[in-house]
Formats: sequence, structure tokens, C-alpha cells
Amino acid sequence: MKQVDAILNKNRFSREDIVYWLKAEGEEKTRLFEASQMIKSQYVGKRVYFRGLVEFSNICSKNCYYCGIRRANQNAERYNLTDSEILDAVRFAYENRYGSVVLQGGEISSPAFARRITGLLRRIQEISEGTLGVTLSLGEQPEEVYREWLENGAHRYLLRIEASNPELYNKIHPEDDIHDYHKRLESLRTLQKVGYQTGTGVMIGLPFQTWEDLAGDLIFMRDFDIDMVGMGPYIEHKDTPLYQYRDQLVSEEERFQLTLKMTAILRIMMKDINIAAATALQAIDPIGREKALKIGANVIMPNVTPGMYRNNYKLYENKPCTDEEAADCTNCLDVRIGMVGDEIAYGERGDPKHYYNRTGK
Ligand code: 5AD
Ligand code: SF4
Ligand code: FES
Repeated sequence: MKQVDAILNKNRFSREDIVYWLKAEGEEKTRLFEASQMIKSQYVGKRVYFRGLVEFSNICSKNCYYCGIRRANQNAERYNLTDSEILDAVRFAYENRYGSVVLQGGEISSPAFARRITGLLRRIQEISEGTLGVTLSLGEQPEEVYREWLENGAHRYLLRIEASNPELYNKIHPEDDIHDYHKRLESLRTLQKVGYQTGTGVMIGLPFQTWEDLAGDLIFMRDFDIDMVGMGPYIEHKDTPLYQYRDQLVSEEERFQLTLKMTAILRIMMKDINIAAATALQAIDPIGREKALKIGANVIMPNVTPGMYRNNYKLYENKPCTDEEAADCTNCLDVRIGMVGDEIAYGERGDPKHYYNRTGK
């Protein structure tokens, strides 16, 4: 049996090491989690950063095979918040001392869309006097657009690679120009180059995914020198093409445990990055996100989207907090995070230390 020391003393995990720890059960799994907890307390501490998540529109031009808001899903009721609804949600986050907000929406690429986001970014700067951290999660965009948004007040960008193995990527996306693996990778490189704190992530427990794929995902994040990661269990959605493979999936509990192990291993591999406790974890386990915080995650993304829209941003089934309002989630999380012994860093932006270590800024 491998000991904690053996985990900690090994400064560079190979693909085989990662697969080994992904398969850990019982006492070995406990050891892995002890090691990642230790690293977390040493390098990022007990402070959890809040990002108020505004899911401002579920209109998307893409057709990812796993996603409930894919363009071809006629059953999804489409919405697009007005600017003032978005800014109200931002104001809520600011007034409740969330250090940052995330603007997330379906992927749309057009000059009008780019202008709209630029306008919103300027208003967010005004509202918070430039103090709120702003993360965008708006998919692949031209380099000029990424630059424009950065110049107008965005600091971070999340673009999940979804699956770092191109073969797996191709199995879960249509085969066409707008779902091209290399374009996605290029976009991620561009984000890093133009100066964003850059985040990526993957889904865990996808059909066709192997142990080596998962290990490869973590190596991809390390090789890419990523600043932030959000990864969560894949949860099938009945109105999507990938639903037909539901019989091939491992159980939800196994996907959940795999996500925890991925999080723990990544924390050991990349000590100073920000790792989000994925909301999808809570779709499986009522205290799923708290469990992720305990073993290595340090960011949580409370939903601040106005309640009446929440039910429509359904990427997967059983999405939590769809009946709540933003204030309910703040109170709820305050209690929950105290429960695992962490504390919320109210009012702090919580930039990933890795970004400063990487760029020397
Ligand atoms: N299960 C889990 N996560 C999903 N996402 C999309 N569809 C699903 C699903 N069925 C994730 C993708 C995307 C993020 C916004 O949501 O990784 O990048
Ligand atoms: Fe659109 Fe993102 Fe869903 Fe793909 S995963 S269909 S890009 S919202
Ligand atoms: Fe939304 Fe608990 S976090 S209700």
C-alpha cells in the first residue's frame, strides 16, 4: 500500500501514478484525501472564495451531444436576461460581499453580442468601483473580442476543454467546424496569451471515457499551466444524443467519487491553483460540494441568477437550487461551509496564486 509520504514526496505524477490513485479504495482513498487536505491547508488555506454565477442566457449556437441547452433541443425554453436583470444580480453579489461574479451563457459569436458584453463589463466596473473580480464563460471567441473584454474589466475566463483526448472530444461533439477540438485548444491558448487568469475543466464519467483519459486530463491541466479548474461529474440529460449510452455509464456514486479523487490528485499536482467545487456534484449528493471543498477545492459558485430563470438553464438533470433565490443560497452556503471547517472569504476577489507565480505579476 502506498503511504501519504509517498504521495507527497513524489513531485511529478506520471499517467500511471494518476490511474493508480484514481482506482484507490478504502484506506488508500482515505490516504489520498488526507494528503490533498494537507496540501490544501498549506498552500491555499481554509478560505473559500465566492463567485456569484449569472447564467444570463441559455441560447446557444452549438450542439454538444451531452448538453441540455444544445441548439437542437426543442424542449428547452429559451431565455435571455435583460441588461438590468443581469446588473441586478451583479449588484446582489456585490452588496452581499461576494468577491467576484461569473457571467455565463450559451456560446454566441457576433459583433452585437461582443458589444453587449463590453457594455455590461463597463457597468459592472462602475457598480463595484472596479473591485469585483469578473470571470467570463462565453465560449470560443475571436482574439480581438477576448482582448476587448479584458480591456473593459474582465479578469478571468473559463473555457472547459471538456475532454482533453481529441478522440473522446470528437465522440461527444458533432463533427464540424464549430465543434473542432483544435480550435478549442487554440482559444484556450489565446486566452492565456492575451493575459486572462485562465480556467479549464472536463466532465468526469462520460461514456467512452477511460482511466487513461482522466489521467490525461489532469496532465493536460498541468502541461497547460492552467490557473483555475472547474470539473464535475457528467450527468445525462434525456433530450440529448448522448443519452442513448446511459446504460454504459458507471453509477452516479462512482462518478461522484471519481470527481473527488480527480480534485484531490489535482490539488496535489497543482498546489496553488483555484479549484471550484462543481455544482453538478450537488446534483448527485446533497453535500457534494462541501465534500469537494474538504479534499482540495477552494472556490464555490453560488447561483445569483433570478429565481424564475433558473429552471431553464438545464445543462443536466437534477440541477440544484433551481427553486431558490440568491439570498437563500448565500445563507445556506454560509452554514454549509462552516460545517466543513472552512470560512468564506467575503469581499475578497480570490485571484489564483498560480497566476501570479506563473506570470510574475
Ligand atoms: N453533465 C455535466 N456537465 C455538463 N455540462 C454540459 N452538459 C453537461 C452534462 N450533461 C458542462 C460542460 C460545460 C459546462 C458549462 O457545463 O462542461 O462546459
Ligand atoms: Fe452550448 Fe456550452 Fe451546452 Fe455546448 S456545453 S451546447 S457550447 S451551452
Ligand atoms: Fe442554493 Fe443551498 S446553495 S439553496
